[in-house]
Amino acid sequence: MLPIRQYGDPVLKQATRELDEIDGRVAKLVDDMLDTMYAAPGVGLAANQVGVQRRLFVYDIGDGPQVIINPRVIETSGEWTFEEGCLSVPGLSWQIVRPNRIHLVGLDLDGNELSIEAEEYQGRVLQHEVDHLDGALLIDRLDEDQRRDARRILRARAAAAAS
Ligand code: NI
Repeated sequence: MLPIRQYGDPVLKQATRELDEIDGRVAKLVDDMLDTMYAAPGVGLAANQVGVQRRLFVYDIGDGPQVIINPRVIETSGEWTFEEGCLSVPGLSWQIVRPNRIHLVGLDLDGNELSIEAEEYQGRVLQHEVDHLDGALLIDRLDEDQRRDARRILRARAAAAAS
């Protein structure tokens, strides 16, 4: 299992790099990320959440483990509000507005092209993980009032942890 990087860690604010090659090391990383995600427990985990600056994430919304390498958003549409949390910001969640539907392309572990059209919960998980890979956290998706509250809570937490 891998340590999950927490809010404030600069690795979470950096965009990840695409993978040129899917080799045994990537397969091992995916295995470790899945173990880490299930143990947390969570429904999605991006590589930079475990300190690896590469463009891939794993998820499981109840249909078994999935991995998407070099994901790219082709299209989004609609709007949906949903209570969202993150393993890098544990214990907190917010009602966040995002597009409802997403069309995502990428590669699987064998290098086959994936094209996924998803909405509602699956669409939400995919968007959340792509955000991670772009260096964004759910905090960045909050409205102004939510963000003010979030910053206050997170500052208080950081102060408590430092004292
Ligand atoms: Ni997250």
